[in-house]
Amino acid sequence: MKKLYEGKAKIIYATENPDEVLIYYKDDATAFNGLKKDTIKGKGRYNLEISKIFFEYLEANGLKTHMVDVVDELTMRTKKTEIIKVEVVVRNIAAGSLCKRLGLPEGLELEKPILEFYYKDDALGDPLVNEYHIDALKVATQEELDEIAKQALKVNELLKEFLIKRDLLLVDYKLEFGRFKGEILLSDEISPDTCRFWDRDTRKKLDKDRFRQDLGEVTEAYQEILERISK
Ligand SMILES: Nc1ncnc2c1ncn2[C@@H]1O[C@H](COP(=O)(O)OP(=O)(O)OP(=O)(O)O)[C@@H](O)[C@H]1O
Ligand SMILES: [Mg+2]
Repeated sequence: MKKLYEGKAKIIYATENPDEVLIYYKDDATAFNGLKKDTIKGKGRYNLEISKIFFEYLEANGLKTHMVDVVDELTMRTKKTEIIKVEVVVRNIAAGSLCKRLGLPEGLELEKPILEFYYKDDALGDPLVNEYHIDALKVATQEELDEIAKQALKVNELLKEFLIKRDLLLVDYKLEFGRFKGEILLSDEISPDTCRFWDRDTRKKLDKDRFRQDLGEVTEAYQEILERISK
């Protein structure tokens, strides 16, 4: 199989179908722009299965995603999209860089979701950008950005509702979108690597912050997310 790209968490392979790729989920974990590295046993398997459940749920509710099917426990077949170089972050509760940048206390419930854009550029450290920057960088048109924002907020409503029934708070998450035959498709992954999930009652962190902050029981947290959303 021809490797098209190897990222920090996944490997992309070409298939005989030029419109599709295989995405292999690794156990490798990085944080702080690659400064912290380790492997988390079982992570690839959990992230794939968790992403699959979310993608299926979103599709069932009218959102288009890149997922085609699951090939094996580490490999997902998807549409080959042209990834838009903008990471879209939606926040419901203050955490992470929002707290650092604005001095807000972690855990502050935001009255309405905050939508942020980051320019996907490793060398620059994925800087925060606004619509004017994106326009100047020519990475997406205003029309595409409006569509991306609409889809990202729809994902928020759907996922919050899905998760609260499982006693989980959706603190924040990062999405990537791609162009495919004239449409914008939700791409990449939706997993504890790319979202913050807290237990509703105890506010226990059940996501990659356990790795970033050396809280321990990382695999167990990913497993717990999978168990709760499988019900
Ligand atoms: N459907 C898709 N078609 C093509 N590329 C995709 C698709 N979904 C995700 N990707 C891209 O595949 C790569 C996934 O690998 P990974 O998550 O390991 O990347 P990363 O290390 O996080 O960093 P970066 O996104 O900066 O490359 C990303 O570059 C992502 O944008
Ligand atoms: Mg990634």
